[in-house]
Formats: sequence, C-alpha cells, structure tokens
Amino acid sequence: MSHVFHRHLSHSYPTAVGGDGAYLIDAEGRRYLDACGGAAVSCLGHSDAEVIDAVRKQVGQLAYAHSSFFTTEPMEALADFLVERAPAGLSSVYFVSGGSEAVEAALKLARQYFIERGEPQRRHLIARRQSYHGNTLGALATGGNAWRRRQFEPLLVEVSHVSPCYAYRGQAAGETPEAYGERLAQELEDEIQRLGPENVMAFVAEPVVGATLGAVPAVPGYFKRVREICDRHGILLILDEVMCGMGRTGSLFAAEQEGVAPDLVTIAKGLGAGYQPIGATLVGERIRSAIAEGSGFFQHGHTYIGHATACAAALAVQRAIESRDLLPRVRQLGDGLQRRLEDRFGDHPHVGDIRGRGLFRGLELVAARDTKTPFDPERKLHAAVKRASMDEGLMCYPMGGTLDGRQGDHILLAPPFILEDGQLDEIVDKLDAALARVLIHS
Ligand SMILES: Cc1ncc(COP(=O)(O)O)c(C=O)c1O
Repeated sequence: MSHVFHRHLSHSYPTAVGGDGAYLIDAEGRRYLDACGGAAVSCLGHSDAEVIDAVRKQVGQLAYAHSSFFTTEPMEALADFLVERAPAGLSSVYFVSGGSEAVEAALKLARQYFIERGEPQRRHLIARRQSYHGNTLGALATGGNAWRRRQFEPLLVEVSHVSPCYAYRGQAAGETPEAYGERLAQELEDEIQRLGPENVMAFVAEPVVGATLGAVPAVPGYFKRVREICDRHGILLILDEVMCGMGRTGSLFAAEQEGVAPDLVTIAKGLGAGYQPIGATLVGERIRSAIAEGSGFFQHGHTYIGHATACAAALAVQRAIESRDLLPRVRQLGDGLQRRLEDRFGDHPHVGDIRGRGLFRGLELVAARDTKTPFDPERKLHAAVKRASMDEGLMCYPMGGTLDGRQGDHILLAPPFILEDGQLDEIVDKLDAALARVLIHS
C-alpha cells in the first residue's frame, strides 16, 4: 500500500517517470499526449532543455535565500520582466508558490490597502458563481463553486457571488451579447448597492473561466463595464489569471484582450510551467504606494516567497516564450484546434458548445443539444471521459458541475505552446475515441 495521501484514496495512479516534449511517459513506457498541461501548467511541455539548464545553474549557484534577509537576482529580474509587460498601473510583484497563495495575497493586499487609506469598513468581497480561485480558505471562500465549498462552508468568510458571464447558458434568447453583459453589470451594481458601496473592498473574477466552466471568456464589453463600476465606487478589481494568464489565451495577460487595467492580478501555473512551483500577485502602484507611505510593510509572508530557483525557472520559461515567439503560435494553434474541434464535434449529439481562446478550449457535454439538458450527474460522465482518455494515451481535464456545482460536464483542453500541427489532430482523434467509448450507450 502506498503511504502517500493521494487525491483519491481508492484509485491507483500510473507512475510518471519521464517527459518528452508534449508527452508524459509512465513506468510501463506508455506515452500520454498532455493536452491539458495537467491543469493548464505545462506550457513548454516536459523536457525543455533551456529551462532545465536554468534550474540546474540556479541550484548550483544559490538555491534559496529567505526573503526577510535578502533579495536575489532571479527574483528582481523576473519582477522587472513581468512589470515591463503587465497591464498599465501594475508596478510590483509579490512572489508566492502557487495560485491559491497568490489569491490569498491579493485579498490581503486589498484589505490592507483600505486600512492604510483609513477605510477600515471596506471588507466585502464580491466574486462570481462557478468560479474557482483556489483551495486555501480565503481563496475557497472567494470561489463560487458549490461542490467545492459545501463541506467547508462553516469555515469560510462571507463573500457575495453574482452570476458568471456564461453566454451559452446565461444569455437569453433574443438578447445581444452586449445587452447580456450590461444585465450582468447591473447585477453587480445592485449587489454593491445592497452591501453599501463604501463597505465593498474588491470584485474578483477570472477573465476566462477555467476549471469550473471550461474556458469561458466574457462577452465583449463586460469587463470594461465592471471596471467602470468598480472605479465609480472606489472598489478594487482583482483579476485571477492563475489559469488563463501567461500566454495561455494568446496574450501574456488575458486582461489585455478585455482592454482593462486591473488593480491586482494573480498568476501561477504557466508562470513556471511546472519546472518549479511558483505564483505571483502583480500589484497596482496605488496599492503599493499606500502601503509604502503608510505602515511600510505588507503584513503577510511565507517561507518560500521569492524562492530563487523557482524565480530562475519562471524567468527562463517567460524568456523562452518571448524569444521563440510563442504567443502568435498560441493564437495560430488555438485557431487550428478550435477549427478541428468544430469539424469533428460541431454536429456531435452530445457536444453542446465548443469555446475558448488561444490554447485554452472547452467542450460542454450535454444529453440533448436542442434543450442543452445536462447528463445525470450520478453518471459521473466527466470521470469516465478522463479514464477513457488516459486509456487512449491522452491527458485532458474533464470536470463536472458546470452549471451549478452539481449538474453538467465539460472537458478543458490546455495543451503546450510547443505543439506541432499534427499533434492537434492527435488530440482530436484520441478525444473522439474516448468520447465514443464513454457515450456509446447514451
Ligand atoms: C483561476 C484559478 N485560481 C487559483 C487556482 C489555485 O491555484 P493552485 O492550485 O496553484 O493553488 C487555480 C487552480 O486551478 C485556478 O484555476
């Protein structure tokens, strides 16, 4: 019996022993095409020589120095790199070890900002249903996924949840995307009024919703309206780009495509591409200066913040994406993937929607296309798709509870940016074979 406390205690996992570009290899020598980067992590695949070399060099020179004693060259260089390319107004970077920690830091920075400004009554957070912001208690409370929250509810701080921007199910018949976005903006405004605008601290959202909805971008203009509303009431806008950021949707920051400048942005996953665990919170200048001119320090911290080896890995990853011109390639591959998915599944009786941006794509599975009726959740279709895909030698990221935390199934695809065109066909062929096996009796 394994002494590892695995995610599922009755499941036995193949042992991963190697990586070769877009493939992971298990101890039996089976190869799996990684079409989801685990969870949108491995954007450079699994054997990038430059990144591996950068990690080796950094460990050889200086693996780690505690950030309360020293700064380090890779941490400074990575912060410079990110700020130079970040949306306007973001001027510094708080480094952590993953996405949940990045979200926690953003929430605490928002709170401390208002304390420094003499607005201690600002404590309410507004986020969206069907979002995921991480599993630590603050991040879990912020997320709007009913299933993930349910058993921990007594431990969670109070957060308001408004509707997600989810056109496939939320946009009414005869309603334009713009009118739909406006309706959602009004819902946010109403919730702010209910809480009292002077009591609201921040609105938190994923620009493209990942794990819980399956690559759902907002309708045009939605985030601009959200920004206006936040500005009018002095509320901070926190964009969670842990999954959709760092080039995944075809621009380094997903917010660029919305034309908005957030006050705080969280990143992780593709930042270090899995070569090291790392996350970060990018911080707006007005927040940094309020703290710098006030108490002078952020009352937070973890042992591994700004880990030198993690920063060196992330810097090598981000330099590689830029020097190899991979962002245009993400857009091109993403269009190619969408086209292939539509060709193959556009008329599939159980594929209701195919969506996403760049190399971040989602397929929503339905029992009936015309009514968009979901499959019976008891069937756990998403789990069966994951198993069947692994049997076909494909890693994809299916998830249940798409509609409300219980009903609905989708498949998330987030393959590496180094993919070759032929591998797009391999993804679609293997996914088709896996779906055929699972849906044969539907
Ligand atoms: C949007 C978003 N935020 C936060 C997180 C949490 O990140 P981590 O699992 O690295 O703590 C995730 C993870 O999937 C995520 O998708």
